[in-house]
Amino acid sequence: MKKLVGIEALAIAVPSRYVDIQELALARGVDPAKYTAGLGAKEMAVADPGEDSVSLAATAAARLVRNNNVDPSRIGMLVVGTETGIDHSKPVASHVQGLLKLPNSMRVYDTQHACYGGTAGLMAASEWIASGAAAGRSAIVVCSDIARYGLNTAGEPTQGAGAVALLVSEQPDLLALDVGLNGSCSMDVYDFWRPLGRREAVVDGHYSIQCYLDALSGAYRGWRERALAHEVVRWGSNLPGEQLARILYHVPFCKMARKAHTQLRLCDLQDAPSGAPATPEARDELAKSAASYEAQVASSLSLNARIGNVYTASLYLALAGLLHGESAALSGQRIGLLSYGSGCASEFFSGVVGEKAAKRMAQTDVESVLARRERVSVKEYERIMNLPYDAPEALTPAAGTFRLAEIRDFKRRYVEGAAS
Ligand code: HMG
Repeated sequence: MKKLVGIEALAIAVPSRYVDIQELALARGVDPAKYTAGLGAKEMAVADPGEDSVSLAATAAARLVRNNNVDPSRIGMLVVGTETGIDHSKPVASHVQGLLKLPNSMRVYDTQHACYGGTAGLMAASEWIASGAAAGRSAIVVCSDIARYGLNTAGEPTQGAGAVALLVSEQPDLLALDVGLNGSCSMDVYDFWRPLGRREAVVDGHYSIQCYLDALSGAYRGWRERALAHEVVRWGSNLPGEQLARILYHVPFCKMARKAHTQLRLCDLQDAPSGAPATPEARDELAKSAASYEAQVASSLSLNARIGNVYTASLYLALAGLLHGESAALSGQRIGLLSYGSGCASEFFSGVVGEKAAKRMAQTDVESVLARRERVSVKEYERIMNLPYDAPEALTPAAGTFRLAEIRDFKRRYVEGAAS
């Protein structure tokens, strides 16, 4: 029998503060509808220098271990996908290993390719387990990032921060991956990048959207070819993409998921061997179907709309949002996932929601993690954005969360909030 491999459990971490997106729009002299309806945002997470990629990753990973009673001796691999590195050499993952006091007998490393880095880690972990090399051990994959474009930039309302930790194992209670069906598409483009030494990303915003859509088309068609060959989907009155119960996309801002879904439908409508509308105009119209977007995509975006872009973690925040609301209804059903990282790399993959997904999601405290956040004014958000990254304010971390306390002699020291 083929080994089942996939995501057994997940946990999230977010900064302790957020700003309301309509308030930000008003402060920038922009019609709030541009940020809400135009980009699909509601709130934006605000990370201060004490909430760096290590502390967010460690907080999510510690929640994962605690909420799911994970036996650390079961873990053979710890990977952090991030593009918010804190050192050219020492990975975020080794800090997480130390802060969680995980055993030495494991592989520990970071993976980087813009927002695709977390998926690179997930695929390395799941294929390691599927190959048998893991010999029954599990992996923790953490996606942790701070999306930062700077004040008064076009990218400003698409900032955000947070982390999602995934337990990857042979007991995929949340999502059993269709290992081997993945489709990839990568190209050498300058759509978004962050040169060494810069805190803020450089982005060619509208071009980056086009790169995302082009890469999606290649990755989806690659997956579809394999899924058709394995009879996971078929051409019929329902197009192959329509046979997936839900489709999750990389979410730099929520409206992007709608654009991505239109593009995916267009791929199916253009390639359908028969029965598709003959003219490009008719195909475009059908691809934009609001009903299809509502049925297959909209329900996954609740967390993304309240946190903003979290680069590597954005796709997995969409997974958390979907399973938080709908895991019981989706039990046994196949969903599709599209990962995109600028530069660029993309991968379309699929998996089947597990029967125990609802029970597992009940163990995650997604709602309470968000409810504990403090709303700050735009003035306070701007003050936080202007703080030097290497001198964190001396704030007490909440129980069970980590915080960067200081950097001395080029070493970072973290503190954990005491249990209340
Ligand atoms: P912009 O140029 O300021 O906005 O920047 P716009 O003029 O394109 O307007 C945005 C939308 O709002 C449009 O909708 C407008 O029509 C609408 P669309 O036509 O696209 O459907 N709009 C309004 N709606 C209602 N009422 C109004 C109104 N006014 C306008 N009054 C942009 C937008 C996304 C380019 C900018 O925010 C940006 O540069 N963001 C960062 C880059 C980004 O997120 N790119 C996404 C693809 S690349 C990616 O996903 C990778 C990434 O995550 C990084 C990584 O991989 O590491 C970014």
